[in-house]
Amino acid sequence: MSASLKIAVAGLGTVGAGLLRLISEHSEDLSLRAGRRIEITAISARNRKADRGVDITPYDWHDDPISLAGDPDIDVVVELIGGSDGIAKALCEAAIQNGKHVVTANKALVAHHGTGFAHAAEDAGVTFAYEAAVGGGIPIIKSLREGLAGNSLGRVYGILNGTCNYILSAMTDQGREFDDVLKECQDKGYAEADPSFDIDGIDTAHKLAILASVAFGSEVNFDAVHTEGIRHVSLMDMQFAAELGYRIKLLGIASVREDGLEQRVHPCMVPEAAPIAHVSGSLNAVVADGDFCDTIVHEGHGAGAGPTASAIAADLVDIARGLKVPTFGVPAGELKSLPSVPMDKHFGAYYIRLMVVDKPGVFADIAAVLKEHEVSMESVLQRIRDPGEPVPVVMTMHETEEASMTKALDEIASVDAVVEAPCMIRIENL
Ligand SMILES: NC(=O)c1ccc[n+]([C@@H]2O[C@H](COP(=O)([O-])OP(=O)(O)OC[C@H]3O[C@@H](n4cnc5c(N)ncnc54)[C@H](OP(=O)(O)O)[C@@H]3O)[C@@H](O)[C@H]2O)c1
Repeated sequence: MSASLKIAVAGLGTVGAGLLRLISEHSEDLSLRAGRRIEITAISARNRKADRGVDITPYDWHDDPISLAGDPDIDVVVELIGGSDGIAKALCEAAIQNGKHVVTANKALVAHHGTGFAHAAEDAGVTFAYEAAVGGGIPIIKSLREGLAGNSLGRVYGILNGTCNYILSAMTDQGREFDDVLKECQDKGYAEADPSFDIDGIDTAHKLAILASVAFGSEVNFDAVHTEGIRHVSLMDMQFAAELGYRIKLLGIASVREDGLEQRVHPCMVPEAAPIAHVSGSLNAVVADGDFCDTIVHEGHGAGAGPTASAIAADLVDIARGLKVPTFGVPAGELKSLPSVPMDKHFGAYYIRLMVVDKPGVFADIAAVLKEHEVSMESVLQRIRDPGEPVPVVMTMHETEEASMTKALDEIASVDAVVEAPCMIRIENL
């Protein structure tokens, strides 16, 4: 058997400790699969004394993670610190400059600097691997980049954040309010004290930007992702969605159009019958549409120590085997710089909920605005309430350009009898 592959692990939190455990428990199988031993030699974190639930005494401790990049006894640096810049970025850059392979689970880093890392790794003749950055235990990067390499992919989309999916699933299935479920997630440690990265869609946008790059052979363009979160999704809209035959999910969707690349993250109404409507709780799912393979669905745990360590181990086995694959599927210099399609140009169907004080002529006013902007209504639902109380009026719209829909809604919001800002949720007929 060849010499062992020597690994340094920087960051020993949830994921780092999970990786230590996986490599120690599966060391024999990993050796057989990789054709050589995969051996952790060095580690780094902030607090040397913290109890990590795993024995760290066999490994060389480095107070400064950057020093791992200069250690001649290390082949691969596994970056599990986090953050798009700062120490994580400096460590990965230094490791590549020193001819070491890098494996990371850091989606923020890859979303912001992935193209640069692809160039740097290629120039240095090393691997920059990030399977764990998207979809946790789902081997989606490998699947898109290698398994589907024979296809031209037109669209990739998915449920990419377990916290959001857990919250939306609990609202749908248990009829609970958003704040109540979010608090439960925070109490149980599923959501951070500051949950904004998750619930404002940023985490999903990071992952979508990475998926789009792999799927379409384009530069990673996180700034072009239209991003909305789930804070405004109400129980009332969940109930109307069910009545109309839909479920509400936070999706990241990337598709190639004639005029460029559309990347968007927002709550969507998806038909009850769509497989993705039934991906519940903290599960993730990614769907890819290829010209030869048709639709491929991947589902699994998108986070947590075990699934994330599983994805990192797969990258390590590839490196140990000497497998060399371009970072985003094509040589870095060939990554396309696709124009980004602004959300105004999105073409789709819409769910609209208005809170209206029932007065004579109000529906005629709303219909007139829709007609003026050439938005055509597909269905309407209205609830009876006590006189004088605002009534929800729900409409679904046929496919239209988003610019027309938003202009119509701006005008509808100023109709006297409309007492709240209209709620708009896009319908995806997947
Ligand atoms: N958690 C998940 O389920 C998950 C899933 C997919 C991807 N990821 C990604 O994986 C990465 C790690 O996530 P995590 O959940 O494991 O984070 P975490 O639990 O917060 O762990 C971060 C680790 O980094 C160490 N660290 C922070 N600053 C450092 C510094 N300046 N020098 C040395 N070490 C430093 C911390 O040291 P101390 O422990 O000593 O404080 C800690 O061990 C992130 O990029 C995250 O986005 C996480």
